[in-house]
Amino acid sequence: MKRIKKMNHGLKGEIKIPGDKSISHRAIMISSLADSEVEIKNFLKGADCLSTIGCMREMGVSVEESNEKILIRGNGLNGLIEPKNILDAGNSGTTLRLLMGLLSAQNFLTTFTGDDSLRKRPMGRVITPLSKMGAKIFGRNQNKNLPITIVPTEKLKAITYQMPVASAQVKSAIILAGLYTDGITTIIEKNPSRDHTEKMLSAFGAKIEKNLNEIKIYPAQKLTAPKMIEVPGDISSAAYWIVLASILEDSDVIIKNVGINETRTGITDVMKNMGAKIYFENERISGGENFADIHVIKSKLHGITFGNEMIPRLIDEIPIIAVAAAFAEGDTIINDVGELRVKETDRLKAIVEEFNKISVGTFEADENTLIIHGGNKFNYAECKTYDDHRMAMSLAIFGAAANGVLIDNPDCVKISYPNFFDSLI
Ligand code: S3P
Repeated sequence: MKRIKKMNHGLKGEIKIPGDKSISHRAIMISSLADSEVEIKNFLKGADCLSTIGCMREMGVSVEESNEKILIRGNGLNGLIEPKNILDAGNSGTTLRLLMGLLSAQNFLTTFTGDDSLRKRPMGRVITPLSKMGAKIFGRNQNKNLPITIVPTEKLKAITYQMPVASAQVKSAIILAGLYTDGITTIIEKNPSRDHTEKMLSAFGAKIEKNLNEIKIYPAQKLTAPKMIEVPGDISSAAYWIVLASILEDSDVIIKNVGINETRTGITDVMKNMGAKIYFENERISGGENFADIHVIKSKLHGITFGNEMIPRLIDEIPIIAVAAAFAEGDTIINDVGELRVKETDRLKAIVEEFNKISVGTFEADENTLIIHGGNKFNYAECKTYDDHRMAMSLAIFGAAANGVLIDNPDCVKISYPNFFDSLI
């Protein structure tokens, strides 16, 4: 249990946030396929990324950890070895889904499992395209859930695949498998999702072309690692401070060194549309990714309506945007959010059940829409996190800005932001 008190002062000064979770996963996986040593700076030592390290070590990759630096010596594109045990992806959908793509193309057998949450999440969405490429994947519940076994197969076939749901995890699984085919794999996305896999593979010399919503992946012979990968701060973690500083009187804060890849900046676009004062400062580029310091000043927010192509650009930030919307004037309507039902928990259900304890009657959802009636009163409440890191952090920010909150299982923040509570004083 953790009690968060109502904050009686504004958020001020500078905040340093941990490394980007999505980029940290990809840095480990892709470096493992190169054949020289890579140094990864500002790697996120969250539980999810440690699951990825655990899996790669099981397959013979040397990963040395020291403070904020990771040193990897990759085994080359075809140098992974058969794991002697079941691979445990823990709570991490990214570990599991991306590795399913990569391991579909290896000449050895792998079996995956994960925690209670991951064992409930849908895996058919990855198995379907990989099976079309010729992968042999078998899962519980008619190939929909963990545990999952991948059996070696002949060379994978290149396919053209129209993505039925916007998912960077599914897209990345196909891209990684696509490196091992003998043709050009084409992926068509209706709404673009985060493109860190494409950017990082290009930095390692793979041939990947992007034209509007179409991505082409060419088979690779070899990946050449840069000497160093610098992981930007995670905008999904910055989101908690962006919202808190926007709603808490007397706030003026700078969040240092954040990744502002445009497939991830839905949070700042939406907050600005709601009236937030957010400025990118000291912009720079490293390894194909854009970085900036994000300056946020308290502002007066108003409700807005959004959905469709905006959703993949802020998919993990919807719980914290819902908190911002509760402090805004008027209603906020977020359309096309059905994907939230298959995250670490059913986040739409969790928002309606738990956030309404803090602000009665403010949050409503149906299958695919979330409505927030801004401007209501706030209570002290005791809330459940459902062991979901993003619910825990959103509830903590909500309580800090409203009238305090007591949350169960605060430790689940270690998935993406191990020292989150240290910054919330
Ligand atoms: C991620 C993609 C998103 C996101 C997740 C991380 C990634 O999931 O919600 O936290 O690193 O590719 P989906 O691919 O299911 O949308």
